[in-house]
Amino acid sequence: MKISSFVVDVFKSKFKVGGRKTMSAKDYLAKKILPISFTADLTENIYDLDKSVDCLEKIPGALDPIVGRALLGLSAYAPGIEPVIEVGSYLGRSTSYLALGSKIASKKGVYAIDMFPGVDDWYLGSDGYYHIHGSNYYLTKEVYNERSSFIYKEGGYQNMLELFKEIIKKVGLGDMVIPYRGTSSEFAQSVTTDSKFRMIFIDGDHTYEGVTQDIFSLVNLLREDGIICFHDYSENFPGVIKAVNKHIISSPDFSDFSLVGSLLIAKKHKKGV
Ligand SMILES: C[S@@+](CC[C@H](N)C(=O)[O-])C[C@H]1O[C@@H](n2cnc3c(N)ncnc32)[C@H](O)[C@@H]1O
Repeated sequence: MKISSFVVDVFKSKFKVGGRKTMSAKDYLAKKILPISFTADLTENIYDLDKSVDCLEKIPGALDPIVGRALLGLSAYAPGIEPVIEVGSYLGRSTSYLALGSKIASKKGVYAIDMFPGVDDWYLGSDGYYHIHGSNYYLTKEVYNERSSFIYKEGGYQNMLELFKEIIKKVGLGDMVIPYRGTSSEFAQSVTTDSKFRMIFIDGDHTYEGVTQDIFSLVNLLREDGIICFHDYSENFPGVIKAVNKHIISSPDFSDFSLVGSLLIAKKHKKGV
């Protein structure tokens, strides 16, 4: 099954007012998205997780709150203080969970990698799906039309990065997120070879080739005992399952696999263990 109808439904339910009118991105931001409020000093490690999740759930996207909470916990728990890498940020829902977990644990924040396409970066393929130049990523016409109307036409944004930055600032996590416009391999080439990261979250191009490229571009940047996880490890995305099974679950370098919703989590071994 390609991008499933539930994604279309999620988009409709998020962006329709009274089931009739599509909200513009600017109205959506003004009415819905609120900053996270920290009710106590973070150094005392007291915060209202439920309230924070309520805030982040208002960010457009299809990431389940259970997966969001898992990302928050993992980014706080992953050994070390090095930054987190995310591939596939869209409008910042998963990014915000990762950034909030990092902030709560007083660790470094998130490099948010996405092609953040502008309207001209999309094309209609001969397969009937919309693609981004330079990626196998695909959207149905219906989902593409919803997004394109929301972001570029009604919203008036030149590209997704502009809206992403606005949302991250609005929820109060601007100091924890560094966006990178490009692919995982371009990002890997832009950092020094001795750079290390404590966690990698992959949710970009869901084809076998796309996930494989993300793994091979980034895996050497993950510290020993670091955490790697993949969204949409589910039958709707056979490419994700195939790439993760072949390159992570069958690899002697990873263990401690677990599944939260459709989030597949693995731990990189320490050398010699
Ligand atoms: C499923 S969405 C990510 C959803 C996001 N994690 C959230 O919580 O809402 C996939 C994203 O991957 C991006 N993308 C697609 N192909 C990519 C690639 N090759 N490299 C980087 N990003 C890519 C798309 O622009 C899109 O924003």
